[in-house]
Amino acid sequence: MKKLMIWAAAGLAAGMASAETPLYKDATQPVEKRVEDLLARMTVEEKIGQLYQSIAETDWRPMEPQFDEVRKGGIGSFINLYREKAGEKVDWRNTISRQCHDALQKVAVEESRLGIPLIFGHDVIHGCYTEFPNPLTLACSFEPALFEKAQHFAAREARWAGYDWTFTPMCDTARDPRWGRVMETCGEDPYLNAQCVVAQVKGFQGDDPSADDRIPACMKHFVGYSDSMGGRDYNITECSEWTLRNLHLVPFRAAAAAGVETVMSSFNTVDGRPAVTSRHTLTDVLRGEWGFTGFVVSDWNAVHESIEWGYAKDGAEAARKSLYAGNDMEMFSSHYVKNLRNELAAGRLEQATIDEAVRRVLRVKFRTGLFEKPYARPLPDDAALKAFTDEAHAAAKECAAKSIVLVKNNGVLPLKKGGVALVGPLVKDRDQMLGGWYARGESSRTTLQDEFRRVLRGTGRGLYVAKGCSINTVATAHTAEDGSKTEGAALVGGDLNEASVKAVVDLAEVVVLAVGEDRNWTGENHSRSQLTLTGEQQKLFDFVATLGKPVVVVVCSGRPLALPAIWEKADAILYAGQPGCEGAAAIADLVVGNLAPEGRLSMSVARDVSQVPVFYNSYRTGRPGSGRYDDVKEQDAKYPFGYGLAYTTFEFSETTLAGDTAVCTVKNTGDREGVAVPQLYIGAKACAEGVRPIRELRGFRKIALKPGESAEVRFELTDEVLAYTDRQGVLKVDPGVYEIKIAENARAGKTARYLRK
Ligand code: NOJ
Repeated sequence: MKKLMIWAAAGLAAGMASAETPLYKDATQPVEKRVEDLLARMTVEEKIGQLYQSIAETDWRPMEPQFDEVRKGGIGSFINLYREKAGEKVDWRNTISRQCHDALQKVAVEESRLGIPLIFGHDVIHGCYTEFPNPLTLACSFEPALFEKAQHFAAREARWAGYDWTFTPMCDTARDPRWGRVMETCGEDPYLNAQCVVAQVKGFQGDDPSADDRIPACMKHFVGYSDSMGGRDYNITECSEWTLRNLHLVPFRAAAAAGVETVMSSFNTVDGRPAVTSRHTLTDVLRGEWGFTGFVVSDWNAVHESIEWGYAKDGAEAARKSLYAGNDMEMFSSHYVKNLRNELAAGRLEQATIDEAVRRVLRVKFRTGLFEKPYARPLPDDAALKAFTDEAHAAAKECAAKSIVLVKNNGVLPLKKGGVALVGPLVKDRDQMLGGWYARGESSRTTLQDEFRRVLRGTGRGLYVAKGCSINTVATAHTAEDGSKTEGAALVGGDLNEASVKAVVDLAEVVVLAVGEDRNWTGENHSRSQLTLTGEQQKLFDFVATLGKPVVVVVCSGRPLALPAIWEKADAILYAGQPGCEGAAAIADLVVGNLAPEGRLSMSVARDVSQVPVFYNSYRTGRPGSGRYDDVKEQDAKYPFGYGLAYTTFEFSETTLAGDTAVCTVKNTGDREGVAVPQLYIGAKACAEGVRPIRELRGFRKIALKPGESAEVRFELTDEVLAYTDRQGVLKVDPGVYEIKIAENARAGKTARYLRK
């Protein structure tokens, strides 16, 4: 630690140009000229070094070998900078990641032969220090601008922490809630997903990713990862070109068009090959069709995993196949640095293939300003920093409040009177609501208990608090930030305490029960076979439901949970997802009515895991209405995509067509102001090239309406709205019949017939 301080203080002026500054160091020259000039000066070893992303992980450890490699030009990038141990106080001006970044960077730019800066990547997914709702949750806001806002805060914090590059946005479209990574996606719809990821690219990169408050983004996982078979992580993906084009590729294409600088290839297979070796997607589609000019990094160890898949026989073949496919940089495993030199010498690889990959990496390094500004960005003074964090927390609260979805309310919400029993394992917790993939996320400043105390203060109404039980009785296999490992399914014991719960419920007029899913049961490598509450929380609910008081249930989870007993017996239910560091504040304000819910589900809620996958945009079949499960009554999801209630009610008129415009009138028929979210769905009945989904979201709005107020909502049925992508990647619109509706959610409303000539 001491050593680091000295390095950090040792003078970090960038770009110390000599008398004859080479062209590539001249920022006034065009990027492509700089790239070619630098490329021409590089040895093969230096070129291959640019294609290697090494690790600098967890807490501080000696790095001398890495310094030597950087000095020789043998490493182009790092992932996961050293950082404080879990629980160690973060001093923003001197975070370990910041010091390590600058110390390693100093060696790269001042001591390596050509002074090529490193690029340090990190998973800043939904916040760096200030944790925003996870993407699945924030997508429920149906307000992509919130993603832009949130990721702009994350970009500034990342720059201060010494991260030059984020591995976000995740563009995977997720339809199987058993898959633990649904929490990182924007849900099941490619259109909503595309809007959200484009906003994230803008939030991270702005107009200029080299700016002090921006960083380059990385769209991932290219492609098809979310269809891992059976929801099992790292499994194969079986997907037709048709579905690839019209579902999985849609958000990626949008993010590429928005100028995302980098791409991460995925773990799964694409058409039978590991994605990292798929030339079809990485070269033909990404570069050939879309004109992407940045670079592709593999996912963690994925180049090596092509050997585990049984597709490459050794490291040399893994490296060759991946590079040839168009995967430029290798994350973690080191087959490129170990083998590409030999492959070249043996004539199994062309120099031009290596050069092209290096060109792409250098291009991004130039474009994102690393040569001019290689070091972590200066922190503002204390007052400005405080103002920034206050602003970031206010934004995190706005995001949480707009994302939480009210799915049931028999009138108990907003709470009007009486004492409140606040029950459940989350009531005093500061970390669960941050969710998975929380980067350097700081624990929440307040708990649900603090926030309910705040909202009830001065009302004369009591607050009675009981935890009831732990969030879980078993711990999954995971590695904590301090490096300690927990093995899978270790029993940590049940502690349901009915007596303490009864004591507080007896004192109150209403119960707010905050339950959910252990955050360690979502995220990478955390698939589940059930969509239930973890631990003894179901028993806790069942007990509370016997006590005769109205029960409001707040569900915090990384995936949409199937909770039949709660759906039936609770008086009101809020799906809060993983709402981030201000989740508790948002929940308390929503429950008492200081704020009104406006979230709509970004993913359908299955009735039971046996239904999975159940998503709204299923394809038409040849026998509509048939093909049902004989042994269940309800065939559709419990709560459909786009569903959510408000504290008021809305009436949607039938959709009509005025020429090529779909029209609907939305009226607030309740007695409170509220936000309606009209959604445009199309259903293409005649498509010349393939079968299309029964319904596809192609537009949405958010409209605040006062009691009694109406608004006319119009959507133009443009080519863009009606289009599909053919198997060659061409956007097309076929003439024929389209079923159109503007509705409250995917299931609601009647369609109007639109004939496209
Ligand atoms: C593996 C994950 O799949 C990916 O999303 C992440 O960015 C990398 N590891 C780096 O942590």
